[in-house]
Amino acid sequence: MLIPCSQTREHQDEWLALEGRLRKKERLIHDPTVQKLLKTAQGTFNEWAYKLATERLQLILKIGNINEMRQPDEFRPYCPASLSKSGDLHLIDQMDGQQIFINHNKLVTGLGIFGPQGAGKSYSIIDFCNKILRIDPAIKITIVDPKGAFSNLVSFLHSNIAYASFDLMSPSNVSIEIFIYELMPILANTLGLIYALDMLYQAVDIAVGQRRQYMQQTGIDPGICLKDIRESLNLIKVSGFRKTGYHDAATTALSLILGKQKLFACRKGISLDWLFNQNVVLNARCLTDDMECRFFAIYLLYWLYQQARYIPETNRIKHVIIIDDASRFIGTIGNQFDGHSKTSPIGHLLATLRSSGVCLIYATQLPSQVDPSVLSLTRNALVIGNINGEDNLRVIQNMLSLSDKQKVAIPKFKQREILAFISGADWPHHMHGWTPTVNMTDYTTDNPLKPVIDIAPWHSLADIPQQQTAKPKPSEDSSSPKPSILTIVDHETSAPKTFGVVDKLVLHCINNPFVKASDHANHMNSDREYDAAKNQAVQDGLLIQSASGKSLYLIPSKLAYAKFGTSFPYERAVSIEHSFYIQLAVHTLRRVSPLKVQAETPVGTKGATIDITTTDKSGNMSAYEITLSTSNLSSNASKLQDTVYKKIIWLCRDADTAKAVKAYFNKLQNLPLELVAKFEYIHFSKWLSQIEKRKG
Ligand SMILES: Nc1ncnc2c1ncn2[C@@H]1O[C@H](COP(=O)(O)OP(=O)(O)OP(=O)(O)O)[C@@H](O)[C@H]1O
Ligand SMILES: [Mg+2]
Repeated sequence: MLIPCSQTREHQDEWLALEGRLRKKERLIHDPTVQKLLKTAQGTFNEWAYKLATERLQLILKIGNINEMRQPDEFRPYCPASLSKSGDLHLIDQMDGQQIFINHNKLVTGLGIFGPQGAGKSYSIIDFCNKILRIDPAIKITIVDPKGAFSNLVSFLHSNIAYASFDLMSPSNVSIEIFIYELMPILANTLGLIYALDMLYQAVDIAVGQRRQYMQQTGIDPGICLKDIRESLNLIKVSGFRKTGYHDAATTALSLILGKQKLFACRKGISLDWLFNQNVVLNARCLTDDMECRFFAIYLLYWLYQQARYIPETNRIKHVIIIDDASRFIGTIGNQFDGHSKTSPIGHLLATLRSSGVCLIYATQLPSQVDPSVLSLTRNALVIGNINGEDNLRVIQNMLSLSDKQKVAIPKFKQREILAFISGADWPHHMHGWTPTVNMTDYTTDNPLKPVIDIAPWHSLADIPQQQTAKPKPSEDSSSPKPSILTIVDHETSAPKTFGVVDKLVLHCINNPFVKASDHANHMNSDREYDAAKNQAVQDGLLIQSASGKSLYLIPSKLAYAKFGTSFPYERAVSIEHSFYIQLAVHTLRRVSPLKVQAETPVGTKGATIDITTTDKSGNMSAYEITLSTSNLSSNASKLQDTVYKKIIWLCRDADTAKAVKAYFNKLQNLPLELVAKFEYIHFSKWLSQIEKRKG
């Protein structure tokens, strides 16, 4: 039988040895010429062709070895030409002159840029921005620029945050209350104030109550900001050594964040919705305090996270957040007592953000001072220039899985010398080379810094304008009843002139407020039409998506009601979502049970209300508290003390919330046992199906 020359007894050993040596040189094995020669040498039956091919392979190996001797480089093998063009973003110029391109979407899993002063980190960011915008102009970029390194970027809006203010108003898909209460643990964690969290919740209760009162008395939404929470902290009475300590720590930390500037003190601040829809350089030179920097960064990320929670998952980049000189913004967090907190909330935010296409790029001279949860979520890294210091080198070694020899090579790097690691790239190893040249003469535009936004200055929420308080309020006139949520709107008479699919869906939601999203979908011509209409309506602020367990509800916003010329049923509500669930429960109870049902029954003298009260034939009363999150629980429970209710039902958003509420009250020591004994915990979908069944 005829066998290829490489398999004959004469050549077998020699061939295996040669092939083995070539395979060790990973780069050579990917070279198309080597691949062709290997194929020939292995498969040919012609002794002459076999010899020629193996001789050429030996030569290639020899040249490779000589090159390695002449230019020692711990980061060989280099990426072969055949794997160097896996995308559209020119990342580095490799040591052998090969230009390496990667798929820009690989960076959605985060990019850390590490290097000493003057190494070329900021220039690399400038290079990225221009390349990314050229590849996909729809991507939006937000740069936090503490040193003014990006003032030359063209086609960016340049804004100095010294002139800006940020309030705590939520993205349109989330209620303000939920947004602020969920922010508190993050704020506490970021500032090392975890023991003062309860006080922060109390301060929010006060500020939210003041805002509600302001709105009730004036009809104007005064917004809410961090300074309001700081002011409310002053109103909390504390006693005891420990509690006074926590209180002092919280007031001091918030005062530091608020600083002398108006950054978090205003009645109306920058619209983040608008800001994140621009390419913008935020000049952050004015931020001098570490806590201020940290809160600023986490607040931007938190806002985007809340907006992203209901956005479908993607692995394409839609928004890039860049933080230059980042160790103060996303640095390791200490806490009030032991200096280092083990967990940080930023990791959780980043994980959600990346799955919705928001990517974080950060540059720093001090990798060892970056929050460990940020480091562990960063899947891509660039080392530019000679990093020193054992701590910094250890972080780099772990992130890039470097050998000890490779680690000691880094302190010898020159300016602009770069080591890149991109996870999921075609070449699964390090890439060593130089940063591509950036020609600054292309960026000479002198961009003026603009205070772009109309910001309403801060005044206390307790300062309610007198003339407005004195005016009779038409909404409280008994002759004008509160608009009903169940008023049917006829689109023939009320619809805008052009009636598209978005309007069709929104109108269906107005007219059928209590059906689930799947029923709205059935009303549309196809699932695709429904998806497109829903996404557009949510983006335009016409619908608010609200998840309750596995059910999704679409709640029309004030804008939606206004569009159809009809009254908004939640006009006086602080949280639309909360009021919606009250209405849903009231509607269901009235429909299926013989009980007498009342919504928002006043209790006590402080203006508190019970969400729903039911009374049966024998006069037994039950209270329902709609519970969308675990915040505010203790104040809600205390208003129920000494009331005549036989049962108190915590009607929760979903099973997890119900479990958490139960756990919370079981742990809480200061409530009377006879009160807690009245508590029942259930989640919405279970409750709905139970009372429907009872009726059947
Ligand atoms: N890609 C590049 N093309 C051309 N020049 C560069 C490049 N990278 C760096 N340089 C030169 O090096 C200088 C320092 O670069 P850069 O400002 O990016 O450093 P850096 O790492 O951001 O330093 P720092 O930590 O101090 O902010 C630049 O002013 C420029 O002259
Ligand atoms: Mg720089």
